[in-house]
Amino acid sequence: PTPIWLDCDTGHDDAFALVLAAQHPNFNLLGVSTIYGNAPLSRTTHNTLAILKAINREDMPVYPGADKPYCRPVASAPDIHGESGLDGTTCLPTPTATPKTDLPAIEAAYAALIAQPPGTAWLVATGCLTNTALLLAIHPDLAPHLAGLSIMGGAIGGGFTSAPMGVVSGEGERFGNWTPWAEFNIWLDPESASAVFSNEILAAKTTLMPLDLTHQFLATQSVQKMMLHGQDPDEKKPVPTVRKLFHEILTFFAKTYADVFGLTEGPPTHDPLAVATAIVPELFDDWGGERYEVTIVREGDHGATDSARNGSSQCGRTVATLLPKGKPGVRIPRSLEKDKLW
Ligand code: BDR
Ligand code: CA
Repeated sequence: PTPIWLDCDTGHDDAFALVLAAQHPNFNLLGVSTIYGNAPLSRTTHNTLAILKAINREDMPVYPGADKPYCRPVASAPDIHGESGLDGTTCLPTPTATPKTDLPAIEAAYAALIAQPPGTAWLVATGCLTNTALLLAIHPDLAPHLAGLSIMGGAIGGGFTSAPMGVVSGEGERFGNWTPWAEFNIWLDPESASAVFSNEILAAKTTLMPLDLTHQFLATQSVQKMMLHGQDPDEKKPVPTVRKLFHEILTFFAKTYADVFGLTEGPPTHDPLAVATAIVPELFDDWGGERYEVTIVREGDHGATDSARNGSSQCGRTVATLLPKGKPGVRIPRSLEKDKLW
């Protein structure tokens, strides 16, 4: 199994990342660190422990990480995930395990990852990049040691049509979900994101799952039904509580995406994709090996005010510039095999 460390801000779609990393037989989940994001750190940590309890994995160590960005004010996303970060559930268990505090989160992640054979372990971030940036800055020997880094974040724009994406000059389709230009995870801490993407050793091992891709992975009505009943045609059988829980998670997420974004087909289930690529990279198409240089816009109005959210500021924007063929860089798949991934 592929050793993996998950850094998450559990959240509705993070819950799916967590269950995939913890339960898929091809993964060996080493531990989990949490980060502020969808809700404050205390909530995302609680939610992580609660999901692990629901799937009988309370043995998994959970380390609370950063509770705010490197040099920005903290924000969260109650309109998408509710005040708790995981609203809408009636059967989320109360965790009995407690967060681990014997080490800082980044030291626990480092110890677990560096103990794996070189070139085998994955670090996956499904929240903002504060923990990841600190971990890589404090332990520069980790980048050459890892097999891969996978990140859910960014909104590239250009819609993955035939044109190369990443129009540096400022044209291109606006595809952000927090501001017209910026995706939430990258917007939260653009300085940390910038530090991660400017690590040259790591860039060649990094896979980025931006909104452009995750919006191709919707939890449609039929996915929601499958979550409840599996592939069993006999829908009258009693539904196990864990299925009910994950179904409720999807239906709440579907409602907020319909209310906030008018997306009625189903919510984009972003975060498990960042986990999945570590074991099934062939289900993501990078158009014959396209690689990108990724930079983050840090200038401009960043406040979570209406003026910033609806305005023209590009702060938090993820810019991807296509590299000449053969040059190492970040892998940003353009399409995916959604049925197989579900
Ligand atoms: C990302 O932000 C969060 O709301 C989700 O959990 C996902 O990681 C999508 O922009
Ligand atoms: Ca997340």
